[in-house]
Amino acid sequence: MGADLTTAMQRVCKQLDGAFTLVAVACDDPDRVVAARRNSPLVIGLGADETFLASDVAAFIEHTRDAVELGQDQVVTITRSGFEVTDFAGNPAEGKRFHVDWDIAAAEKAGYDYFMLKEIAEQPKAIADTLLGRYTAAGRLQLDEMRLSDEELRAIDKIIIIACGTAFHAGLVAKYAIEHWTRIPCEVELASEFRYRDPIVDRDTMVIAISQSGETMDTLMALRHARDQRAKVLAISNTNGSTIPRASDAVLYTHAGPEIAVASTKAFLTQIVACYLIALYLAQVRGTMFGDEIGAIVDELEQTPAAVAKVLATVEPVRVVARELRDAPAVLFLGRHVGYPVALEGALKLKELAYMHAEGFAAGELKHGPIALVEEGVPVFVVVPPQGRGQLHEKMVSNIQEVRARGARTIVLAEEGDEAVAPYADQLVTLPSVPTLLQPLVATVPLQVFACEMATAKGHDVDQPRNLAKSVTVE
Ligand code: M6R
Repeated sequence: MGADLTTAMQRVCKQLDGAFTLVAVACDDPDRVVAARRNSPLVIGLGADETFLASDVAAFIEHTRDAVELGQDQVVTITRSGFEVTDFAGNPAEGKRFHVDWDIAAAEKAGYDYFMLKEIAEQPKAIADTLLGRYTAAGRLQLDEMRLSDEELRAIDKIIIIACGTAFHAGLVAKYAIEHWTRIPCEVELASEFRYRDPIVDRDTMVIAISQSGETMDTLMALRHARDQRAKVLAISNTNGSTIPRASDAVLYTHAGPEIAVASTKAFLTQIVACYLIALYLAQVRGTMFGDEIGAIVDELEQTPAAVAKVLATVEPVRVVARELRDAPAVLFLGRHVGYPVALEGALKLKELAYMHAEGFAAGELKHGPIALVEEGVPVFVVVPPQGRGQLHEKMVSNIQEVRARGARTIVLAEEGDEAVAPYADQLVTLPSVPTLLQPLVATVPLQVFACEMATAKGHDVDQPRNLAKSVTVE
């Protein structure tokens, strides 16, 4: 009877198209579980006297760290005595065994009320771990997992970043650094849109696919489209052995540790760092920057964990503002240059966690429409670039004045010692001084804390917001 269930699963799967993960149990043989997958992840957790099925190891990590990843078009039959894998035709097959090397404590809340709070607090370590071992004593960047040759990297004439949600925002930030440091044109595209616009891609295009989970179906499909056209695909992922890195030509792993909360936090900061490492590596290989210039930026990157820790230590006033604004109907976020994607990310966090109307705008666009939204009392977050960026900074100060003159309540994120913004800030959130391109690494943190506190104040489940999943394995 059990064998019949396996056969039935194989036959059904052969007739199906698209992406699916199926699990079946027969009521007259409850000791047998049969599961199958195509284009959608499925991992088996091997415990002492128990076996688990999940789309991600995080679901069973507290029970076992031994796992088997089911391959494409495979069926697994689990019984009390073990498991067997076949393909859809019934031929014996093998999944890929692996051991999860995360610390179990890393996947638990460690005393925090929510995973999100813990993950926000882990950001300094996540950045430091992602940077670890990348820069040699001889002053060279080395990216061990980069399987693309120097020759291939020198031939690249265009970069396209594809990603979704928060990872897309990391790509938007990265574009500024990539173009500045490598002089290679860089586009950033939502993975879900990429293949529908007939993108111009060839063997000299490098496509960077950013995905924390490594399982996002939109990103996977977009990168397959790029590879079909011979582009070199480089994945940035936080999940070892996940589908997107395996489907790519090369990978750079972020070392953020498991991210359990649906709202992405430490993944965002480490994705930016990973993109920056790739940009600097390209600059090194192609000779668009001198070694000491690269070294100076790596040095600054290495100081960001301390800067993020400083933000975390001083972020309490943001929580107070969140509680005060609990009943605000909408919140706006403004930024320029790399502050623009930070504004988008601040708004996304608030939408997904607090279910509030929130919008991020490029501050220069205000006058082209969005300023009509500003009325008495509307909270407006403003991400101000460092003062060293003369014009950019000045323009941002005028934007704060514009919204304030129309009654906005301004919450201004600006670097320490920025006297120019103080008179126009209802609430001033001070950020440590860092170079402009690194500012997103510190400026995003108060916005994450704000969204988390707002969701808590409204009584929402911070880690599991409604309608959302951590890994989005459907298109
Ligand atoms: O795993 P990925 O990085 O590919 O996920 C992409 C998005 O689904 C993800 O960033 C989503 O937007 C987050 N929930 C935002 O906090």
